[in-house]
Amino acid sequence: MENKGNLYYFSTPIVNCQINGVGTMVRSAQKVALKKNKEHVAETDASAANVVILKPIGYPLTGGLDEYPRVEDTGVFECYARQQWNGYLARMGDYLFDHRMYPDFAYHIVDVEPAESIIGQTTSFIVADDARHGPTFEFTSTITFDDVIGQQMARRKCKLIERYLKEPEIFGQWAPTNVLFFGPAGTGKTMFAKALANKTSVPILPMKATELIGEFVGEGARQIHQLYEHAQEMAPCIIFIDELDAIALDRRFQELRGDVSEIVNALLTEMDGIVEHDGICTIGATNLPDTLDPAVRNRFEEEIEFTLPDETERAAIIVSNLQTFPLPVKDVDTGKLARATDGLSGRDIVEKVLKTALHQAIMDEKDEVTEQYLNDSVARMKITNEPVSVSRMYI
Ligand SMILES: Nc1ncnc2c1ncn2[C@@H]1O[C@H](COP(=O)(O)OP(=O)(O)OP(=O)(O)O)[C@@H](O)[C@H]1O
Ligand SMILES: [Mg+2]
Repeated sequence: MENKGNLYYFSTPIVNCQINGVGTMVRSAQKVALKKNKEHVAETDASAANVVILKPIGYPLTGGLDEYPRVEDTGVFECYARQQWNGYLARMGDYLFDHRMYPDFAYHIVDVEPAESIIGQTTSFIVADDARHGPTFEFTSTITFDDVIGQQMARRKCKLIERYLKEPEIFGQWAPTNVLFFGPAGTGKTMFAKALANKTSVPILPMKATELIGEFVGEGARQIHQLYEHAQEMAPCIIFIDELDAIALDRRFQELRGDVSEIVNALLTEMDGIVEHDGICTIGATNLPDTLDPAVRNRFEEEIEFTLPDETERAAIIVSNLQTFPLPVKDVDTGKLARATDGLSGRDIVEKVLKTALHQAIMDEKDEVTEQYLNDSVARMKITNEPVSVSRMYI
């Protein structure tokens, strides 16, 4: 292998074999391989295989020259990837080049667990289908429970999930597998799921249900199955399906969204755990629990409500966010501001009150943010949101 900066190129030894003395040839081929990649391939005591019986399966990748190769079979692809990249150092941000079916096709290493580790025979590979639809992964969320203000009930109920993600093996068939977060927009549901992943040091696989509604029939269902397949490889982990109501709408409302029944069926199959899902916790999130398809809602063994912040919580959200302002804040009565923002969600406070005030002060070329800017943005928010605030749309 040649290392050109951060780009890796690979070369495979070409070995000619004759039928006679296959064993000798395989052994010498292995020696060549070990020698050529000495600095990357771990020494092994394994003896060479004498005979390998093969059954034609097909290609691990398909696609024309003008399109991205697609993984046809994740198991076969994994084997193919382990073979060609065995022993190579995987570092986030680097590239791996295919040198067999699609010579020089580059794969960007989006993430690797643990950081900077050697690809080996037990390494799992996850290939996002394409940049738009592939699931994204967050191995390490930086959000902590200290960042989430309030939501005491969610904290209490999530203790069990925490325990499960840390020690899935002790739960057996009694695992808390499907949990629903519901409540008004901007109350911290996504934050909370990320904090949970952070606390338990497990990856979180986020998926927006709206993105599953694709152009092609079967596309969304395929993505759901793929998501669970990936999750199984990474377990213990959290699957976080945001905006669940977009696909799992009660049949009474489905005309609004078109036919999403195949996606719902795929989701039901996975949530039922027809295929074993040890160590996976599915968290669904919605603002509209009452519009969910009862079959889907029924699969969630626990429903956790997120509520709008009370006055003390609003004050805490204001204080913690003002501390991160790039300009100094002068003479702000946070208690008064908390009272004035009654009925607003955490997001409303951060995005519509605090951010707007800061931006206005910056536009006015001020070198500090005064209470007047904050009062003005509260007043503006009340006018623009009348008669119904975003948070109050929750039913
Ligand atoms: N409980 C909270 N504590 C601190 N900040 C909060 C809280 N709730 C909301 N926020 C602020 O609002 C932002 C949005 O929160 P989040 O995305 O978690 O809301 P959500 O409940 O998932 O909303 P949606 O239902 O629209 O998906 C956060 O990034 C944070 O700045
Ligand atoms: Mg959210």
